[in-house]
Amino acid sequence: MDQSLALLHPATGQIVVLHTLPVRLTHWLTALAILIMVGSGWRIYDWEPIVPWLRFPFWMTLGGEYVRSQEVHNETGLAGALQWHFAGMWLLAASFGSYALHSLASGHFRRSLLPVTPALVGHDLKAALTGHLEHRVGVRNAVQKLLYIGVIAAITLMLLSGLAIWKPVQLYPLTWLFGGFDVARIVHFAGMSAIVGFVVVHVALVVLVPKVLPPMITGRARIARLDARIACVDEGAGA
Ligand code: HEM
Repeated sequence: MDQSLALLHPATGQIVVLHTLPVRLTHWLTALAILIMVGSGWRIYDWEPIVPWLRFPFWMTLGGEYVRSQEVHNETGLAGALQWHFAGMWLLAASFGSYALHSLASGHFRRSLLPVTPALVGHDLKAALTGHLEHRVGVRNAVQKLLYIGVIAAITLMLLSGLAIWKPVQLYPLTWLFGGFDVARIVHFAGMSAIVGFVVVHVALVVLVPKVLPPMITGRARIARLDARIACVDEGAGA
């Protein structure tokens, strides 16, 4: 980082590759897959709710409209939701799996999600709650890193618990590890809730700090000279 720092213009900083193509591509495909999985998952859930009073309105769910479902599948919408859910599952496994493998192999996880210590999280959380946390393009605070690590863990848990309830007989050891079919289903639901919670906070932060969005689309950003030392840049990884 020191060498590139010397090339920076003192006032304007430099243009860097903030998010490489593999990270951008897998991010947006994963977001699409999550949308499909959650939308169809809510409808599947409604057919056999875990919490009796908690239902999702039909219009918020994915799987085809009521009348067409009766015409095509001779039922009221579960079959379409299951088809969407399984299609989304393959997209999620491919995009999230590629993201995880690429990030582990290229060092992206280490560079952009670490370090995260209780002291750093406590410090940045306090700063955020008192309105003293700065938002600079290319610089991630510890709370943000913790949220990313959390959602990566939640998606992994979702994929595993999903497999456990999809094939409880063939994948019996996995289902057993979760404590059985019913517990795996609750874990799957809790994972969905955590992911939805993350997305609400994540999108709210993007709305509050919109300058972080263009780099997630184009990859590039101009970062300030002073931020260059601490920026989460995938240097040399290519766009
Ligand atoms: C729906 C599921 C979503 C998930 C699971 C998700 C997850 C993530 C993760 C893990 C990262 C860090 C990527 C990395 O550098 O390795 C990230 C970054 C980012 N996401 Fe999302 N995201 C989702 C949806 C969205 C949406 C809908 C938007 C736009 C409104 C968005 C905008 C961004 C932006 C701008 C960044 C970069 C912010 C930064 O530099 O820290 N994401 N997202």
